[in-house]
Amino acid sequence: MKDLAVIVLAAGLGTRMKSSTVKVLHPLAGRPMLLWVLESVLALRPDSVVTVVGHQSHRVRGVLPDGVLAAVQKEQLGTAHAVITGISRLKGFNGTVMVVSGDTPLLGADTLKGLAIRHRRTGADVSVLTAAMPDPSGYGRIIRDDKGVIGIVEHKDASPAERAITEINTGTYCFGTKALRAALKSVRTENAQREFYLTDVVGITRSLGGRVLGIPTERPDEALGINSRADLAEAERMMRQRINIKLMEAGVTITDPQNTYIGAGVSIGRDTVIHPSNHISGDTAIGSGCTVLPGNIITDSAIKDNVVIKGYSVLTRARVEEDAQIGPFAHLRPGSDVGKDARVGNFVELKKTVIGKGSKASHLSYLGDSSIGSGVNIGAGTITCNYDGYGKFRTVIEDGVFVGSDTQFVAPVKVGRGAVIAAGTTVTEDVPKDALAIARTPQTNKPGLAKRRRASKT
Ligand code: UD1
Ligand code: CA
Repeated sequence: MKDLAVIVLAAGLGTRMKSSTVKVLHPLAGRPMLLWVLESVLALRPDSVVTVVGHQSHRVRGVLPDGVLAAVQKEQLGTAHAVITGISRLKGFNGTVMVVSGDTPLLGADTLKGLAIRHRRTGADVSVLTAAMPDPSGYGRIIRDDKGVIGIVEHKDASPAERAITEINTGTYCFGTKALRAALKSVRTENAQREFYLTDVVGITRSLGGRVLGIPTERPDEALGINSRADLAEAERMMRQRINIKLMEAGVTITDPQNTYIGAGVSIGRDTVIHPSNHISGDTAIGSGCTVLPGNIITDSAIKDNVVIKGYSVLTRARVEEDAQIGPFAHLRPGSDVGKDARVGNFVELKKTVIGKGSKASHLSYLGDSSIGSGVNIGAGTITCNYDGYGKFRTVIEDGVFVGSDTQFVAPVKVGRGAVIAAGTTVTEDVPKDALAIARTPQTNKPGLAKRRRASKT
């Protein structure tokens, strides 16, 4: 939008959060709440965006997308004071100034755009986006007469009759630059919080004879302001619902959307079924036709088509190729790459390990820093001893190797193609291709000894 500048208010600490992290950096669906606001704002393609920062300004600046300016409000004297700080970065600008709170992350781009369009079409000096809230407590109330909005009264300053009003201020406004600059000069701090309220600009503009418009949003759900941890949980619930609905619309089955936690950056293909209590986040892509049974934690991973992830597995920065099966209770740590049709079963942990096509590690194993070929069978209880207390070493197992149960590979070690490792072997030397390696103490049986022992104990 041409001739539009947006000021985003994000300087407050957020005292009601009772946190050592500034409020706007609290994550919502996996990313700082401020970024949700900025995403909606940037979708309008304004001439400029200024974020007013204050508390933990370094951290807040650190998350600002390219092209978003910061203005530092040294002392948080109120929302009007914050806008004065922001407007100082807009020298020479004479168009529409939109003000948005950094703590209303659910407001969508369409809603903001609708406000700006209405504001311009009507030629108003101030347009405030309002919402009908079943429980308006905490919000500023919209006071109207038959000509429109005459002012906004903050909850703490409101009389019982004013508190009964359910039309609230969403904290989102459009202003003509001139009217805004003029009214800001008259804002005082005679109120319950001794702050410079931006909301006073509304009443001031009206009393100066300006046109003030209250525009009720059609989506009051989006107006939720995050002031407390309970508000944050409510926003999280709503964001989760939005993400899940979008995925379902795109052809994903989610059997219990209320209890499925999928991050905003996750992609999932058609006909994949996600069961309850899955946490899928970060830069994760899941293909089509997959089944993800309950209770997995999947982060920053790439999972191809028709994969089955049985329950209670943890995958972090892992890759899983088509038709593979993972879990239950598998742990794929960063650098795990499981080949097509391969299986990684219960209580198997992988780290920086590539497993080839059709290979199986079905039970109770640790495979770290290893490269495992295709068609390999890793017996139950196989362990790579990859760490000697100082450095990490690699294990290489070539195609078609059969590893018997309870084998240890003392790395660095290499097993050639088609070799067999007898159960219970500790492999300390390379095994040539097609060889059988066995390293264990031969068994001796002592006839009758068990019986004699039993007799001596009674
Ligand atoms: C504000 C509005 C209220 C509205 C509500 C909507 C005022 C006086 N009140 O109240 O009418 O219903 O939002 O959610 O504006 N901030 C600064 N600098 C400051 C003070 C605040 O940058 O000096 C920022 C905060 O970081 C926050 C935003 O402004 O992101 C709003 O401040 P907050 O204290 O949450 O205002 P509310 O009491 O919620
Ligand atoms: Ca707020």
